[in-house]
Amino acid sequence: MTTRNFNFSAGPAALPESVLRQAQEEMLSLPGVGASVLEISHRSPAFIQIAEAAEANLRSLLSIPDDYTVLFLQGGSRLQFSMVPMNLRAAGQSADYLLTGSWSKNALSEAKKGGDTSVAFTAAETNFDRLPKTGDLKLHPNAAYVHYTSNETIQGVQFKAEPEVGGLPLVCDASSEFMYRPLDISKYGLLYACAQKNAGAAGLTVVILRKELLDRSPSDLPGYLSYKTHADANSMWNTPPTFAIYILKLITEWLKNDIGGLTKMHEQNQRKAAMLYDVVDANADFYQGHAQKDCRSLMNVTFRLPSDDLTAKFVTEAKERRLTDLKGHRSVGGIRASIYNAMPVAGVESLRDFMVEFAKKN
Ligand SMILES: Cc1ncc(COP(=O)(O)O)c(C=O)c1O
Repeated sequence: MTTRNFNFSAGPAALPESVLRQAQEEMLSLPGVGASVLEISHRSPAFIQIAEAAEANLRSLLSIPDDYTVLFLQGGSRLQFSMVPMNLRAAGQSADYLLTGSWSKNALSEAKKGGDTSVAFTAAETNFDRLPKTGDLKLHPNAAYVHYTSNETIQGVQFKAEPEVGGLPLVCDASSEFMYRPLDISKYGLLYACAQKNAGAAGLTVVILRKELLDRSPSDLPGYLSYKTHADANSMWNTPPTFAIYILKLITEWLKNDIGGLTKMHEQNQRKAAMLYDVVDANADFYQGHAQKDCRSLMNVTFRLPSDDLTAKFVTEAKERRLTDLKGHRSVGGIRASIYNAMPVAGVESLRDFMVEFAKKN
């Protein structure tokens, strides 16, 4: 048996062991099918059952209202950076962006390509350690939508609630927090998330959008780039990422049956993150958190050590204990511990104990 690490990768990220085992068991043949999910048509009854179950599970976990459509797309969240403005922003309109970190900056730079944009908030001057407070947003009178990144994977800042944007459609990049807590989907116009953090395997991006927004998709858009194409074809306009949809089905079953739903998941995520932030706060002369306290992420815990040498030593010694992928992104430095839904409590406890010991020794 291969020993598994506690893998703190920001994505693709750790998956629940039970999901991996089930995928392994079903790799030669899905029950009663005689072939694996990798080998059957996306239009076969066996696969359609899988895709329908994945969607039904998502709808029940997130209480997705009937006037929202769920799409299973490819191209990652990066493609959504382009598809959102192409579909939702009409000629002559602008689009508002909240700049809270690296990923929202990337989303803005793609949106700039095809039309007008406006920055409704930026935290650039403090190296993206904070989020807007009520009243901070400067919304453009001609904005087609407001885009924000609910969890900034690199900086480790996370919104606790949706920003107030009046009647404008709220568009959310939820890639690195998707399904970490219950959501009121009716507050969103569109929400998207690549799957390789909390929802399974790379290759799948889930898009949830209010059906009335489909009317905005211009009819001359290339087929793949139009939400309407995918909605009309029930995400089967072309071959969808079948294996990743299958893994999403297993993940959503795990969330429902093993975890007990998103309220339970949220409680566990709060407990896990508190374990690490408590060590940071108790050793403030050694560890320095990147995010301001009220903006801290439950998914990506970012902090710095007193020197680059100590950071490198931390990463090396952690790895010797099978705590891996802890090096922070170069734009923030220090350490980033990504503790998504599937990171077991035992993994976080192990990292916490290591952090306490490391601070004491060094
Ligand atoms: C918040 C966020 N948005 C977008 C992306 C880009 O996703 P993809 O690589 O699937 O295009 C990432 C990837 O890490 C992310 O964390």
